[in-house]
Amino acid sequence: LHLSHFVPGTRPYLDLEFPPPPPGRPYVITNMVGSIDGKAVIEGNEQGLGSGDDKDRMQELRAHADAVMNGAGTLRASGASSRIRDEALVEWRRKRGKAEQPLGVIVTRRAEFELRGPYFKADSGLRALVFGSEISEQRKRELEAPGTAKVVPISTRPDSILEVLRHLREREGVALLCCEGGPTLNAQLVEHDALDEFFLTLGPELVGGRDTLTVLEGDWQASKDRVRHLELLSAIANDETGELYLRYRVTGSG
Ligand SMILES: NC(=O)c1ccc[n+]([C@@H]2O[C@H](COP(=O)([O-])OP(=O)(O)OC[C@H]3O[C@@H](n4cnc5c(N)ncnc54)[C@H](OP(=O)(O)O)[C@@H]3O)[C@@H](O)[C@H]2O)c1
Repeated sequence: LHLSHFVPGTRPYLDLEFPPPPPGRPYVITNMVGSIDGKAVIEGNEQGLGSGDDKDRMQELRAHADAVMNGAGTLRASGASSRIRDEALVEWRRKRGKAEQPLGVIVTRRAEFELRGPYFKADSGLRALVFGSEISEQRKRELEAPGTAKVVPISTRPDSILEVLRHLREREGVALLCCEGGPTLNAQLVEHDALDEFFLTLGPELVGGRDTLTVLEGDWQASKDRVRHLELLSAIANDETGELYLRYRVTGSG
């Protein structure tokens, strides 16, 4: 177990190593920021949570990832982008033979969101796949018109997230997938035993509100049998912001 204090100017998550992908899917990590009471949202999006240092950790994890995934709910609430902004991190990827930018991934039923942001802008330098279960031919043409995004059909089965993962592994060669939420998409990974690690930035806030989304929002009835157990791999305290950067591995259930 690695316990430490964050040293400003360092990039603690850049030194991490990840296991190879299991059969049929990428190795999957989720990265979220939450308050002490587990909330992932304030007034409709996550923008009141997480410091600039937290966003740096997010960029470091993206640097490892072959693809960055979001649910359509997050795209609607706050936009979604797999972009690595820091040129030093882009160079770090180049040196390791990775694409300069991770592939963007969106999961949706009908793609009912505005076509704004880098996934729908020609020459944004990003490439994205939109996995949709009920995307019409007309909507597919609109999504693909800028030339950056491609639509991939998935079924309406409850475990269709596994189709997404299989496609990413087998057709796109994705070995490490970083899911950046939201809570509904996170829950699908957990429900279908397809989450390997949970990175949580715990922020020094109490948000409250009965209906405020937490970092995981599945439709199942919570029970002792269904609890997923995690092993703490590292905890880094940021003395300046009061945040904890936590890395957990999912070990089993029940
Ligand atoms: N604190 C954080 O770190 C953090 C991170 C990310 C997001 N957030 C916040 O979380 C909120 C959004 O979370 P959310 O739980 O509402 O949404 P979400 O998880 O981002 O997206 C849920 C949507 O994804 C699509 N989807 C998921 N699984 C699917 C499947 N198997 N087949 C087809 N479509 C599927 C559906 O899209 P359609 O509705 O299009 O059918 C579903 O409504 C926002 O407020 C955002 O700001 C917080």
